[in-house]
Amino acid sequence: MPAQQFIARHIRGIGSSGIRRVFDLGATLKDPINLSIGAPDFDVPSGVRRAMTDAIESGHNGYTVTRGITPLRERIARAMKDEFDWEPDVFVTSGLSGGLLLAMMACLNPGEEVLFGDPYFVSYKQLPPLVGAVPVTVDFYDTDFQLDPERLEAAITPKTKILLLCSPSNPTGIVYEADRLRAVCEIARKHNLVIVCDEIYDVLSYDGKNPSPVQFAPERTILLRGFGKSHAMTGLRIGFAAGPTEVITEMAKLQQYTFVCAPQPSQYGALAAMDTNMTEQVDAYRAKRDLVCSELQGVLEFVRPGGGFYVFPKTPPSFASTGAFIEAGIARNLLMIPGEVFSERNTHFRISYAAPDEKLRAGCRIIRDLSKK
Ligand SMILES: Cc1ncc(COP(=O)(O)O)c(C=O)c1O
Repeated sequence: MPAQQFIARHIRGIGSSGIRRVFDLGATLKDPINLSIGAPDFDVPSGVRRAMTDAIESGHNGYTVTRGITPLRERIARAMKDEFDWEPDVFVTSGLSGGLLLAMMACLNPGEEVLFGDPYFVSYKQLPPLVGAVPVTVDFYDTDFQLDPERLEAAITPKTKILLLCSPSNPTGIVYEADRLRAVCEIARKHNLVIVCDEIYDVLSYDGKNPSPVQFAPERTILLRGFGKSHAMTGLRIGFAAGPTEVITEMAKLQQYTFVCAPQPSQYGALAAMDTNMTEQVDAYRAKRDLVCSELQGVLEFVRPGGGFYVFPKTPPSFASTGAFIEAGIARNLLMIPGEVFSERNTHFRISYAAPDEKLRAGCRIIRDLSKK
């Protein structure tokens, strides 16, 4: 097609997300058991919905200042002070993804490298090339997906600029061990790296507090959080960035020319969300984690997740490939995501347990059946 020539060279290599392909397949199945979705199955809390409709009805629909409405910025700043005794600069982003892109745009020179563990969230590999930078992955399978400080340090080159962390993780659900995280933060300090930390699943931590690089290296951490997963606000595109003034100022400057601001009604929603108790939802998701783990215990090899809503088991050995296993699932009306979407390997698969319990049980039954073959 002649219009193909209009497309920039560095964009041509970017495939559409493998998750989307499974979604498209799912759309062709009738009432599938869908364990592929990366969004909560509960609704936005009613107080948050009310805050947003009130905002809309009272005319808060236009642009806001680039950094976001003052009460929300002040509330975020207070949360950072309370949680970490930290006084970073903060601004409101269009989802965590907005903050992630702006952090890369602000920090990366062409040719510089972004280092992160494999398995990884899908956009970590696709975003650096947009600013001429290079994604570099470090295999974390041998450490049960935990940070591997030695391997990580060995992968650092004079071009490494950003160390990208994510806990609880998508796709593995693991929460970082604090000692490993501390060691990694020391490595980042030794090599003068920027730490960008994706904590979108922080509220959904089931076995204690999720350790953060803010505790160990606040001077070089850009913390990114969002409300999509914790408060079911994925479509409302709202999150925030916190970090050193010099970097946050540049990110906010770039926001002026790209996202302009986060949607105003969503900012009022986020303000209400920060004072909404989510214990009930977190307890329900912990119970789902426990349900899936007990259903699959002794059937598949997997690392028990500590947060988020994913498990990342090894493909049953009776299947020649993960692709064949995913296809066998689809033939039984079950949707899961092959590990290759999140990894240089294709030896595992992702189950999302953000689904009703009866669907989880039905899905696990099929997985058990398939694993016997
Ligand atoms: C690890 C991780 N980071 C970021 C995002 C995107 O967050 P947002 O919708 O707030 O842009 C996701 C969504 O799946 C995710 O899993």
